Amino acid sequence: YVQPSVRPQMITDYIGQQAVREQLQLSIHAAKMRNEHLDHVLLYGPPGLGKTTLSNIIAQEMGVTLRQTSGPVIEKPGDLAAILTRLEPNDVLFVDEIHRLSPIVEEILYPAMEDFQIDIIIGEGPAAQTVKIDIPPFTLVGATTRAGLLTSPLRDRFGIVQRLEFYSEDELAQIVSRSANILGMDTQLDGALEIARRSRGTPRIANRLLRRVRDYAQVKGNGIITADIADAALNLLEVDPLGLDKMDRRLLELLIEKFESRPVGIDSIAAALGEERGTIEDVIEPFLVQQGFLVRTPRGRVVTQTAYRHLGLALPEKFEDE
Ligand code: ADE
Repeated sequence: YVQPSVRPQMITDYIGQQAVREQLQLSIHAAKMRNEHLDHVLLYGPPGLGKTTLSNIIAQEMGVTLRQTSGPVIEKPGDLAAILTRLEPNDVLFVDEIHRLSPIVEEILYPAMEDFQIDIIIGEGPAAQTVKIDIPPFTLVGATTRAGLLTSPLRDRFGIVQRLEFYSEDELAQIVSRSANILGMDTQLDGALEIARRSRGTPRIANRLLRRVRDYAQVKGNGIITADIADAALNLLEVDPLGLDKMDRRLLELLIEKFESRPVGIDSIAAALGEERGTIEDVIEPFLVQQGFLVRTPRGRVVTQTAYRHLGLALPEKFEDE
C-alpha cells in the first residue's frame, strides 16, 4: 500500500502564496492562448515552501511533461545537452538547486534559454568545430534557496521571478486539513491549527509533523487528532510552542551563552554548532529572522530581546535602555 500524495496537482488546489499563484496562473493562461511555451520561471525562497510542487503544477496546467534534475547532478555540458535535445515542445525542465550548476554547464543554458539553440563542440584541438543545433522551445523552472546565489547572466534570463514566502498559520492549517483528509485521518480544527502554529511557516514541515502526530494519536489516543494530542506529540518531538526545533534553540542559546549576545560571524556559528554554513543560512536562519529572534547585521548575527523572552532567559543590561 502506497500512501496517496498530498502534493496539489492543479493550481486551484494550491493554498497560499497568493501573489505567486495569481501571476503564474495569468501567464500560463496567456501562454496557452498563444500556443507557446511559458517564459522561464525562477522560484526562490527557503526549502519546503513549494518550489517543486509549483513546477509540477506548471507542467500539469500547461499540459506538458515535467523533466526534473538538479544543479549538482549535471556534471558535464553533454549531460545537459542530452536532456535539452530530448525535450518535447513546451515541456517544463525543473532544475532544483540551480545555483549549483558548474560554470561550463551554465554556458550551455544561455543560448538554450534565449534562442532555443545549443552549441555543440565536435572534434578536438585545432580541428574542433562548434555547430549550433536547435532544441524545442521549453520552459526552464529554476529553484534556489537564495536568488543572490545565481550569477547575474543566468538570473537575467528568467522572465518570471517569484519569491516564495513563509505561510501564515491559517494557510498551514488549511494545508494540514487537506493533507489529513487525503490521508484519511480524523482531525479536529484545533488539532490542525496546533500543528500549523508549530510548523515554522513551512508546508513540508507541517505535513511531516502531521504524520508524527497521527502516530501519537494512534498509540496514545483514540486516533483522533485533537489539539491536546497534537500538543503532546509535538512536545515529545521537542518542537516548542512557536515551532522552534532543537537546532533553532541551539543556535539562539549559542549566541546568548557562548558569544554573550555580541555580533557573531556565520563561520564562527557554523564551527560552534558543527553544521554547514549553507544549512544555517538557508534552512535555520530565515525563519528565526522572520520571527524577529535574530537579526543579520554587517558585523554578524545578533539575538534580539524577543529571543531571550521566548527562551525564558533574563535580559542582559545592554537591552535595558532600548
Ligand atoms: N502541500 C504542500 N504545499 C501545499 C500548498 N501550498 N497547498 C496545498 N497543499 C500543499
